[in-house]
Amino acid sequence: TQVDIDAAAYEAGDHESYMRKEILEQPTTAQAVLRGRLDERFGTAHLGGLEMDARDLRAVRRVKILGCGSAYYVGQMGAGLIEELARIPADAEAASEFRYRDPVIEPDTLYVAVSQSGETIDTLLAVQEVRRKGGRCVGLVNVVGSAIARECDGGIYLHAGPEVAVASTKALTNMFLGFALLALQLGRVRDLSIADGKRLVAGLERLPGQIEEILAGEADLVEVAKELAEARSLFFIGRVRGFPVAREGAQKFKEISYRHAEAYPTSELKHGPLALIDPEVPTVALVPRDELTERNIGALHEIDARHGPLVVITHDEVDLGAIGARRIDVPRNEPELDPILLTIPLQLLAYHAAQHLGHDIDKPRNLAKSVTVE
Ligand code: AGP
Repeated sequence: TQVDIDAAAYEAGDHESYMRKEILEQPTTAQAVLRGRLDERFGTAHLGGLEMDARDLRAVRRVKILGCGSAYYVGQMGAGLIEELARIPADAEAASEFRYRDPVIEPDTLYVAVSQSGETIDTLLAVQEVRRKGGRCVGLVNVVGSAIARECDGGIYLHAGPEVAVASTKALTNMFLGFALLALQLGRVRDLSIADGKRLVAGLERLPGQIEEILAGEADLVEVAKELAEARSLFFIGRVRGFPVAREGAQKFKEISYRHAEAYPTSELKHGPLALIDPEVPTVALVPRDELTERNIGALHEIDARHGPLVVITHDEVDLGAIGARRIDVPRNEPELDPILLTIPLQLLAYHAAQHLGHDIDKPRNLAKSVTVE
């Protein structure tokens, strides 16, 4: 079902679509989720809504994140953040699968349900399954007072404001930031040093401005998006922190451009999909400056050698050498926070590809904003 929105309270205004408005709102909405939750002095986050004290947080031995579609992909980014910062084993699973497989619920696992609408039936039923078996489930939810928010033991509201476009953008950015806050708090009651905590707090404070910088470069992406729109099929690739970003990029692209967009870990290319690379199949590659840059560039050589068109989302200090690629540079933050900055250009690429193809951006065919019935 389509969620009804009070048009008077939230209009697209001068924007040609809600999706574009919601993309451009991100510098402001990103500030909203961070507001009042960062502690510069102790390099941590305060999340009173979780209803967990330091002892409860320290007792967590595993984190399991549950969401659907893009919320699941951001959940994978969140699991990465929690493992890196708090050194707690963490993973994400599609709530739509979890609910059907009679999952083992462990008392020292923290379950985290993530949802923009708070009404997605698969996620709601996953939460009920966890709680029915005595597990603790907290929510990362945008819509205040929604079913999932009410069903959880506590949580973090995302404060992204109303999101109307089916393709989620600003809510997903705030989900990532919510996970960063959670990872920081879980980390700082364990072994994450105060220096690292402060480094991440400062990084989070820089993020909204850096999102604004990327959005200011929108015009440079339009031609690239039009080229990608012409392809019948394309790959999105990334490694480790970049892989969930690739999944989210492919999701956004297929939702509104109706092109076949497939995400792969860059490391898996040679195990199969390289067979499909040719001049008709472009690849969008995520290549941040980090400990994996050289390996990622190795994969770009493989694609370039097969004349696969390449769009590379990267940092300006990354030298692509002789590789023939369209490059899109994003600002650098702390490496753990890179995923969200790499995601923003992918929203713009999907948006301009769909715009070029003349599709209904806000209401893509066959999809509803939230799936609330079986
Ligand atoms: C996102 O662009 C999609 N429209 C979709 O995957 C969405 O994220 C998913 O259905 C979950 O919705 P929710 O966040 O409201 O639970």
